[in-house]
Amino acid sequence: DKPIYILAIETSCDETSVAIVRDGHAVLSNMISSQIDVHRRFGGVVPEIASRKHVETITVMIEQAVEEAGISLDDVSAIAVTQGPGLVGALLVGIVAAKSLAMALNIPLIGTHHIAGHIYANQLTAKIEYPCMALVVSGGHTELVHIESEGQFKLIGRTRDDAVGEAYDKVARAANLPYPGGPHIDKLACEADEVVAMPRSWLEADSYDFSFSGLKSAVLNVVNQSKMKGNEPNYPAIARGFQESVIDVLVGKAMRAVKEYDAKQLLLCGGVAANKGLRAELTARCEAEGVPLLVPPMEYCTDNAAMIGAAGYLKWKQQDFSSLDFNAHPSFSL
Ligand code: KG4
Ligand code: ZN
Repeated sequence: DKPIYILAIETSCDETSVAIVRDGHAVLSNMISSQIDVHRRFGGVVPEIASRKHVETITVMIEQAVEEAGISLDDVSAIAVTQGPGLVGALLVGIVAAKSLAMALNIPLIGTHHIAGHIYANQLTAKIEYPCMALVVSGGHTELVHIESEGQFKLIGRTRDDAVGEAYDKVARAANLPYPGGPHIDKLACEADEVVAMPRSWLEADSYDFSFSGLKSAVLNVVNQSKMKGNEPNYPAIARGFQESVIDVLVGKAMRAVKEYDAKQLLLCGGVAANKGLRAELTARCEAEGVPLLVPPMEYCTDNAAMIGAAGYLKWKQQDFSSLDFNAHPSFSL
């Protein structure tokens, strides 16, 4: 059979990324241009700046991705692009580029869900077996997704307030650490030799939803109380307490979901999958319970276009294409 080359575009937040993926799993190129340095001084992503930066970068990224893959544009079988969720202005830049390419090359266009991308990042390096459970943890998402068979998603739990990465970033900010703060808090937590106990937000006994805003407030209270007493807050011990609470709840709910849904595998994905404590605890629990744990390499955990190529390929197989007038979907559900 003829190889299928998908040119994939991801611009949902602050990374401009273009990839060429062959047959849904072989990454021939995965160009990523991060805007973090531009947004850092604002302490978070500024949507308008994100859109402008994508406009400046996207054309060059497309050229580079094709060149690095060693193919020509005429070899491309279809264009996959993130349709949502994400920042609407940022999404639109990728979508307009994708539509233009699809029209010029006269090939199919595939609107792709960003979370399906994070989940199918696992397909780039491993074989997914169904039914499985995915724990998606990033700056924008905290979701438990049951996948009955290929491409059949059921969202069983989600955050009711902050995403877990967002909570990390806010706690880091309170500790005067630079954006994005997740890795800094992770490091502090791992080095701490004391721990400040923090609450766990389990919500209703049968719920797979998450909530991190109460925990975030608890952290801010401890920090402010120390400062009011004229003391320097014990940031490592606070970070440790925060991280333990996050991990307890994420791992507890994920393992309960794996059991209840008889999942053959647990898939961990999204930027927070880089967290050392979370990886260690999930690895240990999955080993103890005999459940294979899949975690993509880091370059496929944070936002990237290769994962969109992997998810887009599922739609290619179904010949499930988008029309040229499809729109961005900032709060797209799975
Ligand atoms: O997936 P991602 O690159 O972008 C989104 O789609 O949001 O995730 C970025 C998020 C940020 O909030 C960042 O602080 C968090 O992932 N993060 C971490 C770690 N590394 C990145 N959070 C906790 N521990 C880490 N080691
Ligand atoms: Zn993401």
